[in-house]
Amino acid sequence: MMTAEQMLIDDAARIEARLDFLTRHIDNDYPTLHESIRYSLLSGGKRIRPFLALAFCRMFDGDEAVAMDLGCALEMIHTYSLIHDDLPCMDDDDLRRGKPTNHVVFGEATATLSGDALLTEAFSVASSDAIPNALIPHAIRILSKAAGADGMIGGQMIDMRGETERLEFDTLLSMHAKKTGALIRAACLLGCLSAGITSQDDIRYQAAVTYADRIGLAFQVIDDRLDAIGDTDAIGKPVGSDAESGKTTFLTFMNVDQAYDYARDLTQLAVDAIAPFSNKEPLCALAEYLLDREK
Ligand code: IPE
Ligand code: IPE
Ligand code: MG
Ligand code: MG
Ligand code: MG
Repeated sequence: MMTAEQMLIDDAARIEARLDFLTRHIDNDYPTLHESIRYSLLSGGKRIRPFLALAFCRMFDGDEAVAMDLGCALEMIHTYSLIHDDLPCMDDDDLRRGKPTNHVVFGEATATLSGDALLTEAFSVASSDAIPNALIPHAIRILSKAAGADGMIGGQMIDMRGETERLEFDTLLSMHAKKTGALIRAACLLGCLSAGITSQDDIRYQAAVTYADRIGLAFQVIDDRLDAIGDTDAIGKPVGSDAESGKTTFLTFMNVDQAYDYARDLTQLAVDAIAPFSNKEPLCALAEYLLDREK
């Protein structure tokens, strides 16, 4: 059997090719915008979110082409969130995926506009002719809820507040659920959607939500841990950025070993959530891989 890392690498190449195709049309009359968008979008990255959409699609026997495009739409939103997250007015970071950040190369105005464009283009992809009409309203709802004020943006807002005031632990949990968890949950739900699963009463939908929420939290716990003890060459972004900006993170409340244990327990709970289903192995392997990742 393939390891989770091999599966990810395999799918990541296909995802990258599709992202390339989906953004080739962007108007070359604005060559800098075109270049800046594709600089960040096609710069590697683990492609966890589209991978999750594909894996849930496969587990529930959905339409892979639909899951691929919805996953790519989500990856475009994720990439926009990273471009804006790195801006001087936000985390002020100069390295991402092992390369200078978008604003360092293209300037703040173009980086801001590239992020705006990626967010908007994502909805164009999610509502294209390649997606069955009946699924489009569901896809738009999942993506907009996840990316909006009650989702990723809400989490980023709390994150910025956590630079100047110490957040309570419960607030930190809510911040993580929004800033990172929301897009990860959307990824799993888009995979379900590609199999026609839309009802919250469906046990497959509920299992996806539980799995997503647990790996989503574990993912950000490990991200905080890697910011403290990771290796810049491996993670491709600066180490110590959170501490430098005085952010409240998991490590405000526990040491790096306790953080790992916490993430490990969450990973086990995620694996338990999908135990009833056949073909769950890739999702179990992914959860384990994310826990012990070095990037
Ligand atoms: C980084 O996400 C931002 C967080 C939500 C912690 P990833 O770790 O998925 O970043 P890439 O896409 O692989 O670069
Ligand atoms: C950002 O979290 C998550 C989003 C971009 C929404 P971080 O600020 O911790 O992500 P990194 O560490 O810069 O990737
Ligand atoms: Mg941030
Ligand atoms: Mg950041
Ligand atoms: Mg981080």
